[in-house]
Amino acid sequence: MAVIPVDVAGRPYEVRIGTGLLASLVEQCSPRLRKRRVPVVTDTHVHARWGAAVEAALHAGGHEAAWRILPAGEASKSWDQLAATVDWLLAEEVERGDHILALGGGVIGDLSGFAAAILKRGCNFIQLPTTLLAQVDSSVGGKTAINTPAGKNLVGAFHQPALVLADLATLDTLPARELRAGYAEVIKYGLLGDADFFAWCDANGAAMLAGDAAAREYAVACSVGAKARIVAADERETLGLRALLNLGHTFGHALEAQTGFGERLLHGEGVALGMILAARFSASRGLMPRASAEHIAQHFAEVGMASEISSLGLNCDGRALVAHMLHDKKMDAGVLPFVLMKGIGEAFLAKDVALDEVAAFLDAELIR
Ligand code: NAD
Ligand code: GLY
Repeated sequence: MAVIPVDVAGRPYEVRIGTGLLASLVEQCSPRLRKRRVPVVTDTHVHARWGAAVEAALHAGGHEAAWRILPAGEASKSWDQLAATVDWLLAEEVERGDHILALGGGVIGDLSGFAAAILKRGCNFIQLPTTLLAQVDSSVGGKTAINTPAGKNLVGAFHQPALVLADLATLDTLPARELRAGYAEVIKYGLLGDADFFAWCDANGAAMLAGDAAAREYAVACSVGAKARIVAADERETLGLRALLNLGHTFGHALEAQTGFGERLLHGEGVALGMILAARFSASRGLMPRASAEHIAQHFAEVGMASEISSLGLNCDGRALVAHMLHDKKMDAGVLPFVLMKGIGEAFLAKDVALDEVAAFLDAELIR
């Protein structure tokens, strides 16, 4: 098992990464589970695959699970599901000192974390991430949120978990497409600050995706280590450091918005394309070698991910994609910061990007 400390001021916690952690859930969570009934929030898919294992682990440790099972999918990150979940937690008489378990991907982690943040002005929660994306990104760092008709993740809070248990066994039941989408966030850590890790992914990413256990543990631990360092240094994204974690997200978000935030393009797939666009845009500005940008695109193609936005059949122009960017949370006094690259492993925040320049660049990419 790998153990990565997240040293946020006043609320340090651990991310434990290994195979079989859910089976030893009670021991891992000790001494945090204070009552017999333990509230567990999950979704229908995860409950079908992992509900019995969690139930058995709790039972063996003298507990019983109180389940809240939400419909699987992004639509559950809503006001309605948040309100119903908070009401359910109140009915379960969850106290501030209790710990809510969030068993699932980023949807469950974000919603449960936000519910924990506002329940009785803040109670504890433990992340049990079951997607690669959640294990390497969303379960760590304390960003919680729901979506509203105005956009994704626009209402939320910073609320750190008390513990994160990333059981690598859960990745065995994850659909291959979801696994690849999460891989984009793994690659992100290499691209933004660790060229050696990108080189490792280049050599081992396919084996990791195919199920190599040692490669999975290394990839998740390296990713979490990178995120933990960034979050510890800039928890509230005020210093320009945590913002680097948005590499590929501004372009990717526009693609997700254009495709309706659904099955057509998963979040991680949008991030992968977004990182390729950020790299090519950086190259077009003479910031990074064009060959490095194409190397990134080639790697995503080799692991079976889309590497050209022309393949999405978007039926729009660059200006339409840029229009989606105008609603970005990161917009600051009319300026949209972009995470660009000086090379693989050398991301930086650029605040001098004109959106007309981005639209013209995207026009060319759309017919590439
Ligand atoms: P998700 O939670 O919707 O999970 C993807 C799908 O996989 C769902 O259908 C789910 O039911 C299923 N699933 C999950 N675990 C499974 C398993 N082990 N076996 C079988 N099926 C399983 O999506 P996600 O990609 O994990 O997360 C996306 C969400 O995360 C988005 O809402 C995004 O905004 C958010 N996010 C948050 C942060 C953050 O810092 N808080 C960072 C990145 C993304
Ligand atoms: N996923 C971006 C962040 O945690 O800041």
